[in-house]
Parts: sequence; structure tokens; C-alpha cells
Amino acid sequence: MLAEWFRHLTTPCPTHLKKMGYLKELIAIEARHGRQRAAWASHLEACKKLILEAADAVKPGRVAVLGSGLLLDVPLRELSEKFSDVRLVDIFHMPAVEKRVAGLANVRLVTADLTGLAEATFAHVNEGRTGALPSPEIDAGIVADCDLVVSLNLLTQLPLLPMGWVQENSPAYDEDALRSFARGIVDHHLEFLLSLPGRVCLITEKQRAICDGGDVLQEIDPLFGSELRAAQIKRWTWNIAPRPEINRHIDLSFRMAGIADLKG
Ligand SMILES: C[S@@+](CC[C@H](N)C(=O)[O-])C[C@H]1O[C@@H](n2cnc3c(N)ncnc32)[C@H](O)[C@@H]1O
Repeated sequence: MLAEWFRHLTTPCPTHLKKMGYLKELIAIEARHGRQRAAWASHLEACKKLILEAADAVKPGRVAVLGSGLLLDVPLRELSEKFSDVRLVDIFHMPAVEKRVAGLANVRLVTADLTGLAEATFAHVNEGRTGALPSPEIDAGIVADCDLVVSLNLLTQLPLLPMGWVQENSPAYDEDALRSFARGIVDHHLEFLLSLPGRVCLITEKQRAICDGGDVLQEIDPLFGSELRAAQIKRWTWNIAPRPEINRHIDLSFRMAGIADLKG
């Protein structure tokens, strides 16, 4: 915990991203992966396998991975061998990721907010505004020329921190307003993916389950009511936090959906 706090303090990162929790999340994922390596292995393998399956179906030109994060679920070597241009897109790239790709001439890190509203939401709340919350918007230009775009364990993450920032710091928005803000962000990302000219591969959690052994105590819809539609969906479970990760009494798992061809 102390080590995570120290890294948060010493890693240079834009103020709004630090305050909203983006850096904290990345540091926490790395730490949790360190503790849950065995539990996460099959999920990470399933992600890499599906991405390579999608890659096999397109010509070896340009590929973009949205939500590349720590690259835990990215088959980086294979993508850099197959494609001439590999773009790893995230709102923030950790220094370790910058180092890891430094020697790969055809791999580049693209820093972009894929909701387009994180900074505006930060300012909206800080200035005490009470009107409509910012709307999602994205510059499609960053990936529009790609033969393959992979949205990787990102969709359900997009609304969480903007929504959390509003919830914690503004009394002006009730539960319904927050849910509708979150749903708008999820829908916008799906519409954006569907609007792209190349092949799109989508990997996302579809449902969160809090369990006590075989008993499901609570199910949470991380898509806020949005539906995934595709001809073929692969399903698996990501045991993201088996006990005692959260506490000694519960396990958290994500029911995953992997779609190699979202528009197929
Ligand atoms: C659960 S992680 C995905 C796992 C990641 N591929 C890995 O191996 O670490 C979600 C990623 O989405 C990124 N992210 C969250 N909100 C974002 C946004 N608005 N724009 C771009 N990336 C975002 C986070 O920084 C994080 O790297």
C-alpha cells in the first residue's frame, strides 16, 4: 500500500487524471495482477487469443489497441511482427510501458481520452456547475485508418471515473442522472466502434458477480443497460478478485464477452 502511494506521488501525470483516479487505477491493476497472477492467467490468455484471431482475418497494415494500459492482455510481440503500424491508445501510459515499447520501431503510444470528457467533467464539477454534464466525443481520426481496432477491457472503465468524480464532488446530480451519464458514455463508445471502417474486435466484461463460493450474492450490470449485439460472442469468466483480495468472505468475477468481429 505504501509502495503504491509512493508511486502515485512520484509518477508525473496531468493533475486532473491524478485527482480523478486514473493513475491510481493503473497502479492498483499492476499490484492486483502481481497478487492474482494465477487467477488472471486464463483471462489474459483468452484476450490475447481472440485478438490474434481477429488479426488473422485482416491484411497486415495498421492496428490500434484501445485501453492498452499495462499491456497485460496485449499480444504485443505478435502484433508488432504482423502489422507495420501498431498504435497503443490509452488516457495515460505508465513509464514502464514507455520503456517496454521503446525498442519497437513500429509501435507507438497514443495518449487520448476515449470519452473526450474527462477534463471537461473535472472542470464542470470544480467550477460548481449544475447544468447538463459534458457529452462524450472522440476524434475518430486517431484510428480511422486502421485495418483492425481492438477495444480491450475498456468499455466499462470509460464511465467509472468521470461518474465517480461527479458523485463524490457534486451534490447536483442524483442516481438517475449519473446512470444516464454513464450509459451515454458506454453507448457512445459502441457507436464509435461501429462507425469505424476497419474490423473491430471488442473485449469487455458484461456482468460483475459478487459470490460466496457457489452462491451469487449480487450481480451488477457494468454496461448500465446497454446491449451487446454480435453474430458470435465468446464467453469466459475473469476471476478478478478471488478471496481474500477484497475480503475473506466474497469473490468478485467478471463475465466476459469477446467479439472478434463486432460488425460481422
Ligand atoms: C482495465 S484496464 C484494461 C487492461 C489493460 N489492457 C492492461 O493490460 O492493463 C482499462 C484501461 O482503460 C484506460 N482508460 C480508462 N478510461 C479511459 C479513457 N477515457 N480514455 C482512454 N483510456 C482509458 C485505463 O487507463 C486502463 O489502462
